[in-house]
Amino acid sequence: MRTVHTVAELRAQLAAWRTAGERIAFVPTMGNLHAGHIELVRQGRQRAQRVVASVFVNPLQFGVNEDFGRYPRSLPQDAAQLITAGCDLLFAPGVEEVYPQGVGATTVRVAGVTEMLEGEFRPGHFDGVATVVNILFNLVQPDVALFGQKDYQQLAVIRRMVADLRLPLEVVGVPTLRAEDGLALSSRNQYLSAEERARATTVHRVLSRIAEGLRAGRRDYEVLQSEAALTLQRAGFRPQYVAIRSAELLEPAASATDWVVLVAAFLGTTRLIDNLVVAAG
Ligand code: PAJ
Repeated sequence: MRTVHTVAELRAQLAAWRTAGERIAFVPTMGNLHAGHIELVRQGRQRAQRVVASVFVNPLQFGVNEDFGRYPRSLPQDAAQLITAGCDLLFAPGVEEVYPQGVGATTVRVAGVTEMLEGEFRPGHFDGVATVVNILFNLVQPDVALFGQKDYQQLAVIRRMVADLRLPLEVVGVPTLRAEDGLALSSRNQYLSAEERARATTVHRVLSRIAEGLRAGRRDYEVLQSEAALTLQRAGFRPQYVAIRSAELLEPAASATDWVVLVAAFLGTTRLIDNLVVAAG
């Protein structure tokens, strides 16, 4: 695997592969990789001859009081994992390489799906995500790009952006990888103390409980949501939302469709998000 830090090197390598007629898969990340990211790379390998991963902690998607400064950075370990996973090229640019003219003059906003849920608690976050992913797509020009369902709303935002801007690539959503006790793998899990890590399983437990309720025919969405929020509070969380939505458009739950149940909650200073898709059957 080659690691490049500049757009010039990236483009030169990609041009060679394209001339050879090879399909290119792309996995954008912010690094501090875990098995969830690696699964995206593996799935990329099944869909293309070449897999490109990027590691870039994007300042534009962090709020002023968020964890941009302390976001874990571990490029050598990331590179080692990517090699094992069969990644061909790692693009690890600095901020000036991604935003040579500075940040923020041109941004991409996907209206509709970005204002609610995460967007309500992290204003501007999805503008930052859509903008950087659009830039990265323009630099890599992949045939297929892979994103995790762990960030369910992010995946919806990317799908909508790709459709609206007619970007010539396929977006693939990959199911969430979890620890054995159900906790969704996340770079932010390492902020948790041992004691918090043990309690963090409550998130997946409340999601599963709502899923069971829905499958058993319950349609009292508000009650299901508040019960889950209460359980989280009792376990010491500060929940921001527990929301049962339509799986496709994240609209208010309707009994005829598939659902997605989404949670965001603070445990200490760590913000955890997770979700579960529930088929209406
Ligand atoms: P990051 O949080 O590093 O995640 C990179 C990709 O890995 C995302 O598509 C995310 O959904 C996926 N992912 C994270 N945890 C996962 C898990 N447990 N199972 C499966 N997939 C998982 O998301 C971002 O970075 C950034 O917003 C980015 C898209 C790179 C733009 O900056």
